[in-house]
Amino acid sequence: MDPTSTIFSFLSLLLFGSATNFNRDLPSESCRFPAIFNFGASNSDTGGYAAAFIQLKSPNGDTFFGMPAGRFCDGRLIVDFTAESLDLSFLSSYLNSLAINFSHGVNFATASSTIRLPMADVVPYGHASPFYLPLQYLQFAQFKNRSQIIRRHGGIYASLMPREETFSKALYTFDIGQNDLTQSLFLNMTIVQVIAAIPDIVNHFSDIIKNLYNLGARSFWVYNTRPLGCFPKILTSFPLAEKDSVGCAKPYNLLAQRFNVELKNALARLRIEFPLATIVYVDLYAALYSLYTHPTKNGFEHPLVACCGYGGKYNYSEEAICGGKISVNGKNITVGSCKDPSVRVSWDGVHFTEAANKFAFDLVSSGDFSDPPIPLKLACHPSSRTKETGVRSGKSQISQIIIRF
Ligand SMILES: *[C@@H]1O[C@H](CO)[C@@H](O)[C@H](O)[C@H]1NC(C)=O
Ligand SMILES: *[C@@H]1O[C@H](CO)[C@@H](O)[C@H](O)[C@H]1NC(C)=O
Ligand SMILES: *[C@@H]1O[C@H](CO)[C@@H](O)[C@H](O)[C@H]1NC(C)=O
Ligand SMILES: *[C@@H]1O[C@H](CO)[C@@H](O)[C@H](O)[C@H]1NC(C)=O
Ligand SMILES: *[C@@H]1O[C@H](CO)[C@@H](O)[C@H](O)[C@H]1NC(C)=O
Repeated sequence: MDPTSTIFSFLSLLLFGSATNFNRDLPSESCRFPAIFNFGASNSDTGGYAAAFIQLKSPNGDTFFGMPAGRFCDGRLIVDFTAESLDLSFLSSYLNSLAINFSHGVNFATASSTIRLPMADVVPYGHASPFYLPLQYLQFAQFKNRSQIIRRHGGIYASLMPREETFSKALYTFDIGQNDLTQSLFLNMTIVQVIAAIPDIVNHFSDIIKNLYNLGARSFWVYNTRPLGCFPKILTSFPLAEKDSVGCAKPYNLLAQRFNVELKNALARLRIEFPLATIVYVDLYAALYSLYTHPTKNGFEHPLVACCGYGGKYNYSEEAICGGKISVNGKNITVGSCKDPSVRVSWDGVHFTEAANKFAFDLVSSGDFSDPPIPLKLACHPSSRTKETGVRSGKSQISQIIIRF
């Protein structure tokens, strides 16, 4: 341990030592997750929808990848920042069949996915994804078995598959639920009707976590749902909804909050049922909502207006989706990006910009938005934490120490 970290840990003991008992003597400890298995929808899709259906169009991907990269975003998603922060490569989609390497994890997320069986017609004719959460789970179960058969065969494919022990040591992340709420709304269900469906939706979510636990998963990092009422798409589609003090549609945010309360309670019950698991509820809603209450302070502007869209108060229209073509005064134009997506919150009216994703990731990975208050790097059972040996920068030492308590 270098002298600075000793001083830091001493200081941290002074400052926070008596607060809790999160292994106060090990300021450089972490979980060392060898892999991430992610389940979700478009907010964490790194190419599933694109592989299964249709490649996205520029300007998606332009900021970071310089080309469309299967993400509904100008750049990286929260799941990408998660991989980076754990020193892992970006996750390939399970559905991708080109240039894949699954040794450090798999992404089962696919745009438009729901927790429950989709009610609407599925893409390409309808809006819902056939890859709803229980199907993503079945894909995982199959992946777990077949990847080990491939490893036993050896040869060039073996190194692209995770080791057997990876499955119990990996981080399992979840970012799903938004579409269960919004797809019902777009099928003209009332908010009251959607609220009535929440317990069933959350039960389905719990069942999947139990099933994954039974297959050996132990570390669960679960995002709640975002403030829907602030999305340009919702604000445009339901223009008469009552607004809150920052201009978001109140009833739709209350709907998201209802889902979040029930999810939080369900995860608390699972924590009691599975004491060997680490199950963290992450309040992404609250982290993102600060972009609407304090945009300027956080370096953002026009949070309610889509960067890549067209028309109306919120720069959003169903007929002019990001990257699509529209006809304006007889001229065909492509719906492109605003000048500076790095200061914008909403990318395309539904999804967030890379800048907003980075902002939210930095907040939630600290543990300040978690229940229990565990940071990302410690989201494993205390018995599987290891001491970090690598030289770390001053900045990460400090965050490690804050992380401790
Ligand atoms: C696959 O990823 C692992 C972990 O990131 C890396 O060590 C390995 O070299 C990669 N394999 C190939 C063929 O790129
Ligand atoms: C995986 O293998 C186990 C043991 O052979 C078997 O019980 C299970 O049904 C298999 N699961 C899948 C999804 O193939
Ligand atoms: C929902 O209601 C609108 C307006 O009444 C109607 O145009 C639309 O077709 C309805 N959608 C569905 C899926 O029923
Ligand atoms: C615009 O695009 C449509 C459909 O691709 C095409 O039929 C039309 O000729 C185009 N109009 C102009 C002015 O280029
Ligand atoms: C609205 O979207 C267009 C792209 O179609 C972009 O050029 C423009 O800057 C956006 N407007 C705002 C206010 O962001």
